[in-house]
Amino acid sequence: KNHNLVFDASLLRNQPDIPQHFIWPYDERPCNDDPQELAVPLIDLNAFLSEDPHALSETPRIVHEACKKHGFFIVINHGIDLGLIQKAHEHMECFFGMTLSEKQKAQRKVGEHCGYASSFTGRFSSKLPWKETLSFRYLASDGDKGSLNCVEEYFLNVLGNEFGDSGKVYQEYCEAMCKLSLGIMELLGMSLGVGRQHFKEFFRGNDSIMRLNYYPPCQRPDLTLGTGPHCDPTSLTILHQDQVGGLQVFVDGKWHSLCPNHGALVVNIGDTFMALSNGIYKSCLHRAVVNSTAVRKSLAFFLCPNKDKLVAPPSKLLNAKTASRRTYPDFTWPTLLEFTQRHYRADMKTLDAF
Ligand code: SIN
Ligand code: FE2
Repeated sequence: KNHNLVFDASLLRNQPDIPQHFIWPYDERPCNDDPQELAVPLIDLNAFLSEDPHALSETPRIVHEACKKHGFFIVINHGIDLGLIQKAHEHMECFFGMTLSEKQKAQRKVGEHCGYASSFTGRFSSKLPWKETLSFRYLASDGDKGSLNCVEEYFLNVLGNEFGDSGKVYQEYCEAMCKLSLGIMELLGMSLGVGRQHFKEFFRGNDSIMRLNYYPPCQRPDLTLGTGPHCDPTSLTILHQDQVGGLQVFVDGKWHSLCPNHGALVVNIGDTFMALSNGIYKSCLHRAVVNSTAVRKSLAFFLCPNKDKLVAPPSKLLNAKTASRRTYPDFTWPTLLEFTQRHYRADMKTLDAF
């Protein structure tokens, strides 16, 4: 019960032995798997959104197949400036490069989902993930309410003026991700046959989460995991992983890798969208492995409904032949999030399993 012991990531990264809390049970270790690459479609989003006739008929069909099987696809021509993605990665160095006590100014408390979390800070539990994260809220403006600069304000309020530029970068990044996710919602509305506007409208005024994942090198990547196996409880995740690689997805009873693609973004369906699709689209188990040589970074934007929205599938999906009944009870996003976190904690998977 030594709650004050602190492991410092920068010291740990060169250690030949890793503390036992990071060692995963034998059958969950990545060394038991030899992952093949996951077959995921490459979606040209611009072709779809600009109503290219071929893309309008083909893209929803391809996305439908991928989402029914595992819920993962990759978007290219997504309209996000690569310079902005680059800056978002660079500003991670500013934050994660600070000393532990400086980072702890943003410490995430148990039960909260925003702030700095590190497994290296003496949370005594088993199966600790080998990573540090910084999560913050992005609240989309709801049309007439004007713009909200909640990300920028978070950085200024929690980390001070030196983080003003980082705040601006992540504000811009979240705005771009929000816009992109609504474009993807048009695609998902079409692929599910409920109309292009249905989900886009549902996510107006979304109350989303952005997470920066920083995985230090680890001398025993065979024994531990950067992020343990989990499904995202959120609606839709848009991920940019750097060129190091480490994302894996569990499909057909095996782990598959999802290789980095510099200009592309990985999109996956979360539990909330699985419920919105009445179970037609899958939220799939995934994890991230670490390596002994390089820091790995990823940027994750989690689209979440506004807290007041009732998550219920459109009636058209309830009447369809394939899904004549309701697969999940209606719920609101905060209830599901609270449930998920309680469940993960009880399961000793710690607060940042998702
Ligand atoms: C990743 O870092 O590639 C994925 C992390 C996650 O799914 O939470
Ligand atoms: Fe995830």
